[in-house]
Amino acid sequence: MKLDHILHGGDYNPEQWLDRPDILEKDITYMKEAGINTVTLGVFSWAVLEPSEGEYNFQWLEDIINRLYENGISTILATPSGARPKWMADKYPEVLRVRQDRQRNLFGGRHNHCYTSPVYREKVAMIDEHLAKRFANHPAILMWHISNEFGGDCHCPLCQEAFRQWLKDKYETIDRLNQCWCTTFWSHIYQSFDQIESPSLVGESAVHGLNLDWKRFVSEKTAEFVRHEIAALRQGGAKQPTTVNLMYDFEGLNYDKLAECVDVISWDSYPVWHKGADIVPALDNGLQHDYMRSLKNQPYLLMESCPSGTNWHGISKLKRPGLLTAASLQAIAHGSDSVLYFQIRQSRGSSEKFHGAVIDHYGGDDTRVFREVKYIGESLKKLSEVAGSEVCAKAAIIYDTENRWAMEDSQGPRNDGLHYHENLMKMYTALKRQGINVDIISESKSLEKYSLVLAPMLYMFRENMEERIEAYVRKGGCFVLGHWSGITDEWDRCYLGGTPYGLMDVFGLRRSETDALYEYEHNSLIPEGGSMFQNEYSCSTICDLLQVKDAQVLMKYGKEFYAGIPAVTKKLYGQGQAYYIGTDAQQEFYDVLCEKLVHELGIERAVSGDIPKDVEVCTRSLGQTEYVFVQNYRNSDMDIRGMELNGELLYGKSKETLHAYETIVLKQKK
Ligand code: GLA
Ligand code: ZN
Repeated sequence: MKLDHILHGGDYNPEQWLDRPDILEKDITYMKEAGINTVTLGVFSWAVLEPSEGEYNFQWLEDIINRLYENGISTILATPSGARPKWMADKYPEVLRVRQDRQRNLFGGRHNHCYTSPVYREKVAMIDEHLAKRFANHPAILMWHISNEFGGDCHCPLCQEAFRQWLKDKYETIDRLNQCWCTTFWSHIYQSFDQIESPSLVGESAVHGLNLDWKRFVSEKTAEFVRHEIAALRQGGAKQPTTVNLMYDFEGLNYDKLAECVDVISWDSYPVWHKGADIVPALDNGLQHDYMRSLKNQPYLLMESCPSGTNWHGISKLKRPGLLTAASLQAIAHGSDSVLYFQIRQSRGSSEKFHGAVIDHYGGDDTRVFREVKYIGESLKKLSEVAGSEVCAKAAIIYDTENRWAMEDSQGPRNDGLHYHENLMKMYTALKRQGINVDIISESKSLEKYSLVLAPMLYMFRENMEERIEAYVRKGGCFVLGHWSGITDEWDRCYLGGTPYGLMDVFGLRRSETDALYEYEHNSLIPEGGSMFQNEYSCSTICDLLQVKDAQVLMKYGKEFYAGIPAVTKKLYGQGQAYYIGTDAQQEFYDVLCEKLVHELGIERAVSGDIPKDVEVCTRSLGQTEYVFVQNYRNSDMDIRGMELNGELLYGKSKETLHAYETIVLKQKK
């Protein structure tokens, strides 16, 4: 989908206000005033769209789509399958979800349905097809939003049957399954596929191969459901692109599987701001943006974000003036072609009545939040030429959902927390401090186009990861492998014969043992003479003890019985370089490593000088034009003269000072 402007708007639920036409009219006036050009309609509207079985009530929707369109506002139309009407649950209880304790849920909540149920699939297909027939040719419809925030699993008899079939197709014989799942352990051997049950806390929960396959099955089933919905829309004549809205740091599904089904990725971003330095959530959110963009390696959409405070964070803080603009422009900086909110008008009752919105219960345009939304609308107009531009990254970090499933499900070496997310964030932060773009890729993605790849805690290798890393380094790539890596195969079976599996020659070492540290414990990293490191750094949580064969030792442990044992190494292999970081080091260690590698590998930085710690730099490019986004996440002015910024100012006022939460965008020739 190539857009020539940036989408601005968000979720709108006029069905909650059908008895107040005056409010709906006023909303349109306000939307125009705020530069809103897009709304998402129909998420959770099923009970109004089909009040009783087979009786469709679409007129209100058509009326509102028309009124909005007459006023220059397009529609992203959602399929309503995220929540089903009561009549359906009453008449067909099989549509409701069964929990892992094998109890069926009552009607209620949302996302409470079985993805396998033929009845649910049929009902969904019918309403989707009807919606498409009615609206596919409407010029207001920009795209289709499939359901909402897919997630969760169902353990009903239909899902059990589907799981068994999925396993049969995958393993063919039960012996093969037993081997892959290591079921001899604790006498868990199966005699036939019919005996298999999904994992349950009241049953089997410790066979890691089963747990992994169940999650894979759920991801594939969910993707199948998405494709089923899309097929129904196409059947009804819909030609527009499709999207699914994904969630922050969500590991319930392998998002690669959903990404394959849709044309455009979108996601819902709700960072916790103002809890210490805002650069911390900014980078955390930045990583998610990069992950979402990398799923399809193309521009994506910010589908939801909160105009002020949410109602579901532990503490729902208001966004400080300017922060909403910064967060919105951060999405654009990372490759989004939209700034969309949840939601446009605050609902009056029920569980989200205190969730921030563009128009609140007071109902006027003379509010602080409305004024900032309007300011964002103006800003996005100034930046409209950025829409559709690419984000090019020469560095990548491997973040793989299946690896995370396996590593977190495993017992040991640190059941009190592996600190995986923190370690991932340290590597990401170090790269971002260089002002470069970073892709966040799964193990399935190719490494070839990157000069530098970092892999924190790549515990499970799948899809011949070791062969691909070897080839990547041999051909000239620089690969940084973190601790606790290359330990198990795709069934979470430990590799025999030494780890990191298949890479002991590439890295010139073997991980002989792994120590876990209490939260309050630290070890230290002592630089070796002639290494790229000058300083001592502290490290924590996990320490791999390395038995080095032919790698250069860069740092050794400073304490404990393993003082003097190698912790960080480098080996030149083929045309490339292989670094092994055996522990979770402090941030500054990764900062130095990344600074040196970015410099040595000649990865181009958008700014030549020093980037202050509270600043984030991102670039997007269109042909030979590069847009450089520079954002201040400090709630005070900042002198940025040390950054040596080039190019003309497309957005913002000065290359010398950034005000609190201010963004500037420079335009330059590459
Ligand atoms: C999610 C959902 C929305 C809404 C928001 C509230 O992202 O998709 O329907 O509930 O959260 O933050
Ligand atoms: Zn089910």
